Amino acid sequence: MKPIALTGIKPTGNPHIGNYLGMYRPALELMDNYQGMYFVADYHALTTMRDPQTLRGLVYEVAASWLALGLDPEKAIFFRQSDIPEIPEFTWILSCFTSKGLLNRAHAYKDAVDENLANNHDPDEGINAGLFYYPVLMAADILLYGSAVVPVGLDQKQHIEITRDIAEAFNRTYGDVLTVPEGIIQDSVKKVPGLDGRKMSKSYGNVIPIFAPEKQLRKQVMRIVTDSKRPEDPKDPESDNLFNLLQFFASPERLEEIRQLYTNGGAAYGDLKKELAALILEEFAEARRKFDALIADKAYIDQVLDEGAEKARAIARPILAKARKVTGID
Ligand code: TRP
Repeated sequence: MKPIALTGIKPTGNPHIGNYLGMYRPALELMDNYQGMYFVADYHALTTMRDPQTLRGLVYEVAASWLALGLDPEKAIFFRQSDIPEIPEFTWILSCFTSKGLLNRAHAYKDAVDENLANNHDPDEGINAGLFYYPVLMAADILLYGSAVVPVGLDQKQHIEITRDIAEAFNRTYGDVLTVPEGIIQDSVKKVPGLDGRKMSKSYGNVIPIFAPEKQLRKQVMRIVTDSKRPEDPKDPESDNLFNLLQFFASPERLEEIRQLYTNGGAAYGDLKKELAALILEEFAEARRKFDALIADKAYIDQVLDEGAEKARAIARPILAKARKVTGID
């Protein structure tokens, strides 16, 4: 079997083209050289989500998104985190090798504490222990399958470092039991500009959603912010975020033509936005069709995830068994 590339996906809805270019596509490309493992991190979501219907719905949405965008469940192992009972057990074992100070310094927890302190609140007000333990659960996700590499966004870099620390602490005590993983940090997400030119991000409200109804998608593209230059005015293509977005979707020949229109005059923003919308709809036409079919067939998604969980558990069991044995739990 090829070495494992594993990544966890928080169940959030409505992926946008920044997610796709920065995360989905590079993670799926790894499958050529690695055995891909992808899972929906619903236990992690429970640190913040409180509405059961929303959580269930988002799990289907994110699963349908990955399947529609090219995850082949025959090749990759695709599953739901909470279908793996070995995970909570392993999380506990690993927590006994995790120094509490390490978790105190984890960004998400530390930021929450700092905010409380800034507001003169008790440092731990409103913070659940699940949030504090989040990095240990993530280490269990990674180490339980002997993952070699973990493709993640820049925001997850610290979690990978904590995972490595935990694996090394365990191995110092018991020998070479756990595989110490490498992070593959994808910072290209930063380079996909949103409608306003800042990084495309749901929290900025500047995204182009992939699976939104056609009308809404077109409307978002028309909202791309441009300057007030007239079509005949020459403009600098590189500093224009409409041009930067076109770069991801136009053919090299067409892009060169557009570049000439910018520098020599003749680029009308309105027309180029329409062209970009058409290119995006064309690029994702098949994925959008697949997504609609999948989201209408939850039984199929359940079946894919169930089969994936069986395959994942087959990899997990011997590793957990070994960890139990060396520690004396077994
Ligand atoms: N914490 C990751 C995120 O917010 C999701 C995640 C959970 C994950 N477990 C993982 C990523 C294991 C990689 C490996 O995006």
